[in-house]
Formats: sequence, structure tokens, C-alpha cells
Amino acid sequence: MTHRLLGRTATILVLALAATSCGPNEFVATADNFRGFRTWTRVGEVLSGPGPMAAALGGAHGAGDATMRRSVFVNRAAITRTNGTFAVGTVFVKLVENADGTVSSVLGMAKRGNSFNAANNDWEWFVLDGEGAIAQRGADLFGGLCNNCHRGGARERDFVFSVP
Ligand code: HEC
Repeated sequence: MTHRLLGRTATILVLALAATSCGPNEFVATADNFRGFRTWTRVGEVLSGPGPMAAALGGAHGAGDATMRRSVFVNRAAITRTNGTFAVGTVFVKLVENADGTVSSVLGMAKRGNSFNAANNDWEWFVLDGEGAIAQRGADLFGGLCNNCHRGGARERDFVFSVP
């Protein structure tokens, strides 16, 4: 009886150690993780005008101007959720272009994991430049603006609007 209990305790200890030795599953994006985003998998159609998410988008991301084009890219060949969430390391980029093809804005979201942004499914938010360099980043970017709108409109989709 005692050694069975001891055996079980040992098993639990081994499992716990194995989990710790893998380290926290965290993805801290660098500029390298955004470079070349235009060649990534394009998610859905190029959007202009309010698009299918009109109500959620309001005037954000250039949606108030029908001449602007919004494209969404992902750094994965297959865009799938497992148990409702995207894997740590998944990166989405949204490119907003003016009618003349110049860049209006580039936004990013990366699944960072490790309870980085626990109330918002551990996404980190980014403002990028046209080449993917990081201008701003954070869990609570713009006082929670990114969190709030993506949670409000896409909570059931792990905060991602563009993947049904
Ligand atoms: C008012 C609502 C709203 C706010 C605020 C907002 N977004 Fe979005 N975002 C959307 C919608 C809707 C889409 C879907 C694509 C589209 O219609 O342009 C989207 C798409 C995206 C995408 C592509 C992945 C996806 O969900 O489709 C990224 C990346 C993104 N937004 C980043 C940001 C960042 C970074 C911020 C904060 C600086 C932000 N968003 C603020 C509504 C919003």
C-alpha cells in the first residue's frame, strides 16, 4: 500500500518535472517574425469598405474609407484552431493600403502564450511599419482598444475575425 502510494507520488513528481523542464511555452516576437509578411498565407479576400465585420470595425483600420484595402496574412500554411485556440507562435498581420497603394497602417497580433495577456487569450498586439518593423507592442496597446474590439467581436474565434 505504502509503496504503491510512493510510486504514484514519484510518477506525479516525474510528470511535474517534465512539464517544468519544457519551460514556459512563450513566443516573444521580434522584427524577424514579421518580415516578409506579404508572402505569407493570405486569409480570405482583400477587404474594402466596412466589409463583413462592419459593425465591429466602425471606422477602425481604414474601414470608413471604401477606397482603402485591407488584407490579412498569417504565418502558417494551415490556419486551424486546436480546442478553439491558435497555437503559440501564430502571427496575423493586417495591411491597410490607400487607394494609391501606399501603406496606411500595418497591425499585428501574435499568440504569445504563458499568461502574457491572460484575460485576452494571451495575444500580444503590434503596430508595425510597412516592412514589418515593430513600432509599438503590448498586451494592453492603446489602453486596451485592440483587446476590447477583438474580444467584443471575435471572442468565440480566439479573437481573430478573419478566420471563420
Ligand atoms: C473597432 C474594432 C477594432 C479595433 C479597435 C481593432 N481591430 Fe483589429 N480587426 C477588427 C476587425 C473587424 C478585423 C477583421 C478584418 C477587417 O474587417 O478589416 C480586424 C483584424 C485585425 C487583424 C487580422 C486578424 C483578424 O482578427 O482578422 C489584426 C492583426 C488586427 N486586427 C490588429 C489590431 C490591433 C493591433 C489593434 C489595436 C491597435 C486592433 N486590431 C484594433 C476590428 C478592430
